[in-house]
Amino acid sequence: MLTDLKAQSPDKILMLIEEFKADTRQGKIDLGVGVYKDPQGVTPVMRAVKAAEQRIWETQTTKAYTGLAGEADYRNALATMVLGELPADRLASVASVGGTGAIRQALELARLANPGVRVFVSNPTWPNHLSIMAFMGLPYTEYRYFDAETRGVDFEGMKADIAQAGKGDIVLLHGCCHNPTGANLTLDQWSEVVAILEKSGAVPLIDLAYQGFGDGLDADAEATRLVARSLPEVLIAASCSKNFGIYRERTGILIALADNTKARDLAQGSMAFLNRQNFSFPPDHGARIVSTILTDDALRADWAAELEEVRNTMLGLRDQLAAELRDLSGSDRFDFIRNHRGMFSRLGATAEQVQRLKTDAAIYMVGDSRLNIAGLNRDTVPVLARAIIDAGI
Ligand code: LMR
Repeated sequence: MLTDLKAQSPDKILMLIEEFKADTRQGKIDLGVGVYKDPQGVTPVMRAVKAAEQRIWETQTTKAYTGLAGEADYRNALATMVLGELPADRLASVASVGGTGAIRQALELARLANPGVRVFVSNPTWPNHLSIMAFMGLPYTEYRYFDAETRGVDFEGMKADIAQAGKGDIVLLHGCCHNPTGANLTLDQWSEVVAILEKSGAVPLIDLAYQGFGDGLDADAEATRLVARSLPEVLIAASCSKNFGIYRERTGILIALADNTKARDLAQGSMAFLNRQNFSFPPDHGARIVSTILTDDALRADWAAELEEVRNTMLGLRDQLAAELRDLSGSDRFDFIRNHRGMFSRLGATAEQVQRLKTDAAIYMVGDSRLNIAGLNRDTVPVLARAIIDAGI
């Protein structure tokens, strides 16, 4: 049987990790996978996470199963962080296996409700969105998003394309810090998106994987909150991988906001059912870290302060890179790097130019020219800027 398997094409982002490891050149720079690295190149365990783990170790008396939906204190604390309030009469939620697990469950939920569902995704989007949908056999359509000229959002194109989604279709939106481009909608533009969805009855699925990495913890959730209070049905897949730095704990949540309590209860039951079918009980360690931090004033303040340091470090690197490139290119054509938000920016370089960066300068980024800003530090920014110019970008 196993010999009948077909080789799967490797994930382009994860492949880079291995390629980078195998490169023996001194001074190589990894701007591939979306993992935060401090100026020393380390992905640290956040202080509050360590403290919460110690507290859990000291006080936890059992490792028996959680609820099928995960623990309510975790779900309520995280949903409140995302939504700014807890709309209990509308809210169904389950703990998920990371943000990816929440996306997968959201798509399965949509298909359970509407077997003919179509999904509208931004062009480009996180490649794993497409991979999951292809694997599930879910039909999807790309909507225009990135303007290759301005490196901003092609908002007119986006509006025209998402207006094609009908009642019961899903429109997948990045709540903040768009991956892979770094280009985001303004709040006014989000209002226009809401109006389009209100008219069509298509349901937004918001992927919120980088809350706190763009303009701040609350600012990054503004768009999600606007959508949540404006539309009758909303799905949200949120991840704690990045903002709590607990990548390997696989900690996320799927939130469904319903129009009435009957639909809420149906969603809650279906989401718990999907957990049971896919992996049974969700992992708890990361969830417990998150709820311990969010429900303790001192831990929460320390975590929020460290997250702000992370965010400001990335903004500083953006400024430095844009300034270096302004000097070297004698133009403002790289200023978009300063305006983008989150971990990523898409440079808008060709695959050949990205390859040249790798071959000539040992700089690794995703083939579509997505670079992870957090993979840089003050010393490597000038190296990257020089290499970008040398590669003819
Ligand atoms: C990324 O886009 O690099 C991250 O979300 C990590 C991943 O799983 O792809």
